[in-house]
Amino acid sequence: MLIKAPKNSDVSSSEITDETLFRQRRRFLRTAVNLALTSTIATPLFVPASARAGTKLSNVKKSAYTIDEELTPFEDVTHYNNFYEFTTEKRDVAEMAQGFQARPWTVEVNGEVHKPRTFDIDDAIKRYALEERIYRLRCVEAWSMVIPWVGFPLAKLLKDVEPTANGKYVEFTTLHDPERMPGQRRKVLPWPYVEGLRLDEAMHPLTILAVGLYGEVLPPQNGAPLRLVVPWKYGFKCIKSIVRIRLTEKQPRNTWQVNNAREYGFYANVNPNVDHPRWSQSRERRIGEFFKRKTLMFNGYGEEVAGLYTGMDLAKFY
Ligand code: MTE
Repeated sequence: MLIKAPKNSDVSSSEITDETLFRQRRRFLRTAVNLALTSTIATPLFVPASARAGTKLSNVKKSAYTIDEELTPFEDVTHYNNFYEFTTEKRDVAEMAQGFQARPWTVEVNGEVHKPRTFDIDDAIKRYALEERIYRLRCVEAWSMVIPWVGFPLAKLLKDVEPTANGKYVEFTTLHDPERMPGQRRKVLPWPYVEGLRLDEAMHPLTILAVGLYGEVLPPQNGAPLRLVVPWKYGFKCIKSIVRIRLTEKQPRNTWQVNNAREYGFYANVNPNVDHPRWSQSRERRIGEFFKRKTLMFNGYGEEVAGLYTGMDLAKFY
């Protein structure tokens, strides 16, 4: 059983924040140096405190849906990223995304719903109680991390818009704005980035929309201001900087599938028994560790999610 109730020994947001103060200061100094070196400095727009990366999120409750494993250091979580809208170089995403304005920000929720709605991100944060959940993230490239997310169940937002009987799938879309996301000026992927889930996957209690990590507002490189986290699926399903959530009758075509359907499927469940055509998925490197570890079926969340796929051939529906 990998989902457990939180223990007193679990790291608390306040402990984490103390550690991050040090890092924030370092980041602040780095930013100050960068700004000093820049000759033309644009006047910043007014940005609410809640919007700035590094700001502590308040009223965050610990969730029972959490694991008891050593956390990947904040520095690695925020400086080893996949976010092709900025760059394909993992270690450069943080710098390329620095200064990305994630406010004002709205998310349209429409399609096969009775009550379509457009949420302002800060209203959504107030409306849906925030929880901290420590989850494994397993990338399709065979590395993994353990991240303390802050967010809320996607199911809460979906219930608010009341899916119709035709709403069988949920499609998510990232912001398309090559001015602000310079990686979109290159055709490395078909833009905008799109992902999809079956409605029952989207409604599963483990599926969350994250607005923060390590007790702080989500940094741009991790998908500010809002990204999906589905811990039993490969990381590419965890779409970042979402602007639209659409309920559909037909299965959406996700970006990686459009890009290369032989290598990337719709389901993308972590599965050590089904290899990627170019590499094995049986083992993974946990960032910060030397030896590889075995990859667990459904990333270790099988007890909770295997029932969603009863009777399905997971080699065919990869
Ligand atoms: N979302 C968008 N919009 N663009 C991307 O390039 N990369 C995906 C996913 N979400 C990606 C994205 C991949 S491949 C992974 S592994 C995770 O984001 C990485 O999330 P992290 O950088 O927060 O660890």
